[in-house]
Amino acid sequence: MIETLHQRRVLLVIGGGIAAYKALDLIRRLRERGASVCPVLTAGAQEFVTPLAAAALAGERAHTDLFDRASEAEIGHIKLARQADAVVVAPATANLMARMAGGHAADLATTILLATTLPILLAPAMNVQMWAHPATRRNRAILEGDGIRIVGPNAGRMAEPESGPGRMAEPNEIADALERMLGLQAGDGPLVGRRVLVTSGPTHEPIDPVRYIANRSSGRQGHAIAAAAAAAGAAVTLVSGPVALPDPPGVAVVQVETAREMLAAVEAALPADIAVFAAAVADWRPEHEAGTKKIKKDGTGPAPMSLVENPDILATIARRPAGRPPLVVGFAAETDRVIEHARAKIARKGCDLIVANDVSAEGGVMGGADNAVHVIRRDGTVETWPRLGKDEVARRLVAHFAGLLAD
Ligand code: CTP
Repeated sequence: MIETLHQRRVLLVIGGGIAAYKALDLIRRLRERGASVCPVLTAGAQEFVTPLAAAALAGERAHTDLFDRASEAEIGHIKLARQADAVVVAPATANLMARMAGGHAADLATTILLATTLPILLAPAMNVQMWAHPATRRNRAILEGDGIRIVGPNAGRMAEPESGPGRMAEPNEIADALERMLGLQAGDGPLVGRRVLVTSGPTHEPIDPVRYIANRSSGRQGHAIAAAAAAAGAAVTLVSGPVALPDPPGVAVVQVETAREMLAAVEAALPADIAVFAAAVADWRPEHEAGTKKIKKDGTGPAPMSLVENPDILATIARRPAGRPPLVVGFAAETDRVIEHARAKIARKGCDLIVANDVSAEGGVMGGADNAVHVIRRDGTVETWPRLGKDEVARRLVAHFAGLLAD
């Protein structure tokens, strides 16, 4: 099975209803698709299933209490509400929906739901009359107005004798709805079923706790490529250095600071069908690890600083003996003799293709909204594209990569 939720993290809030037992199966289905699942059980949920069962299936601890000393010290509920890609509430009971609509935060589940800025998917499950009640309909409208997605409920046999809508959507339907919400099911894009890895942004190499070596990369081109690949149906992991950009929709983002962290995150994100190295990695870092103390002026002039070379992430992955992505793409930021340098870079780094851009001051590309690129292949062919917005460059590059992969 293709791991369509590869590296996605799901915070699963289990509400108190008989359908809670199906939430256990949902944990399984999500993990089958590659997601990691952090279960949170309401008090009501624990009447139907145990935190131990949820934890055993998730392979990590289940959370239940707002004031849990262990987890407050370790992570805390606010962090819990952030460290994921999406929140799924299954089953979402009438009571839980009412509390969400009212903005209550009396327990861990509702506090997370109020504190989170992640996309939220609800899988309601309740008695037919409760679902049809005007109060539930009002709450549903409020929640949808807040941008919350809802899957189900389905009509069919329930625990009670009545039938009609109220039965929780099946686990695989919920997982599909989650993928759609995260933009992972574009359906007919050229990269459906493909995995794409993108690096983006600068890296920061700390000198001391307050200073660092960096460069002018904004991350715009790399982020646009990640977004375009996701829109083309790929499961995308974006490893990003420090940038002032929002996370692209439907993309798993791993934030890093230094080149060495970026390399580790890239290696952890493999395998991939396409790896695009758009980050402007700092070539050098201070030889000595930044301590916890700021370097002070001592009156004898600037502190001496020696630099060492950072690992070349692109070359490391392109030359990997096993598990090399079939298409490895590098970027070349050049100020002169752009094509000549780019060709040399393909040979030196072992990649299949270089997207070269002129970053000389006249080009105005670095940090700007436009880009003018040359696409240079290993066989020496060069395509020179007109100056375009970075989003359009990204879309064309993704289409180009998809074409190469299909050849
Ligand atoms: N790159 C990398 N790791 C590094 C340096 C660069 O992965 N430590 C990647 C970049 O993401 C880009 C490509 O290598 O895809 C080329 O980067 P560039 O800075 O243009 O090349 P350099 O190797 O630094 O060569 P030079 O500075 O001599 O032009």
